[in-house]
Amino acid sequence: MASTDTFLAQKKMSDEVKEKLAKDPSGFIMLTGDRPTGRLHLGHYFGTLKERVRLQDEGVRTNIIIADYQVITDRDTTADIHDNVLNMVIDYLACGIRPEDTMIFTHSAVPPLNQLMLPFLSLVSESELLRNPTVKAEKDASGHALTGLLLTYPVHQACDILFCKGNIVPVGKDQLPHIEQTRQIARRFNERYAPVFPEPVGLLTDAVEIPGLDGRKMSKSYGNAIALSATDEETAKLIKKSKTDSERTITFDPDARPGVSALLTTASLTTGRTEQDIASEIGDAGSGALKAYVTESVNAYLAPIRARRRELEQDIPYIKDVLDEGNRRAMEIAQATLDEVREAMGMVY
Ligand code: TRP
Repeated sequence: MASTDTFLAQKKMSDEVKEKLAKDPSGFIMLTGDRPTGRLHLGHYFGTLKERVRLQDEGVRTNIIIADYQVITDRDTTADIHDNVLNMVIDYLACGIRPEDTMIFTHSAVPPLNQLMLPFLSLVSESELLRNPTVKAEKDASGHALTGLLLTYPVHQACDILFCKGNIVPVGKDQLPHIEQTRQIARRFNERYAPVFPEPVGLLTDAVEIPGLDGRKMSKSYGNAIALSATDEETAKLIKKSKTDSERTITFDPDARPGVSALLTTASLTTGRTEQDIASEIGDAGSGALKAYVTESVNAYLAPIRARRRELEQDIPYIKDVLDEGNRRAMEIAQATLDEVREAMGMVY
């Protein structure tokens, strides 16, 4: 089985769903989420947050999980988790997520979601788990031994998606193996017991991936990420120390000039102009001028989000209420699904 076949099949499903969504968003339930390991950054924003807000505004039922149990898949501390979770809610709301329309909740507050893990684990084989390319990559990056939770977290992610009968999951390509695993679990459960679950489709974003400041994938752990919560000064500093090259004339060439090109793409996404257009305007003025332009465009773009963020930071009780209410609603839904599962399995005594 070539993995490209799977990718192409998933891309096709994604395109079909997008077409249906454009005609009629009713009947779609979106579930997606983030690990609360740090602050959300521009990579998250252009990669998925914008799309979540768009789906919410189109009337899709939208659900966002803050995947707190997923934090300990590859690390052995939860030291910053409280702060990270509250700041994640703040980031969502600052970007346009409305808690009246989008349910925001955490793994740890919804026990019946986690309980789905038991029947679901019985539906996957050891070799399927070991084959997952994303799990392999994450294990290598972690430098730790493969923990039982890291090995099985794609199944836990299936619980995240299926407890609320999510049928669309906006994700990056790296998450597609997990969606495939989720579809398989849903199919197997439905065949073995009773038709309870949908087979969800991964929605691939059309957005250009915003590179980190060094041209690699934007990631907090690479130190190349512009956090939504950073101040204008912190943003300026980060951009200033990003690595460019000694060529004075600015041109867009991602392979030969990753640093300069990453800056141009950042400016492009935050201004709506093309990279070539910006490059030719800056011309011989060099990377100093480019950095000044990028700093200004990023800070201008993020200004309304950051202003809203600062307001929300002043009202932590409200942020906690949002999370409480999301957790309460998620609990109800998870309990109803678990009841259906127990019924399907003949476990109602
Ligand atoms: N693993 C996802 C990530 O690292 C986060 C996540 C947790 C998620 N549960 C999910 C994504 C369910 C989609 C659906 O980005």
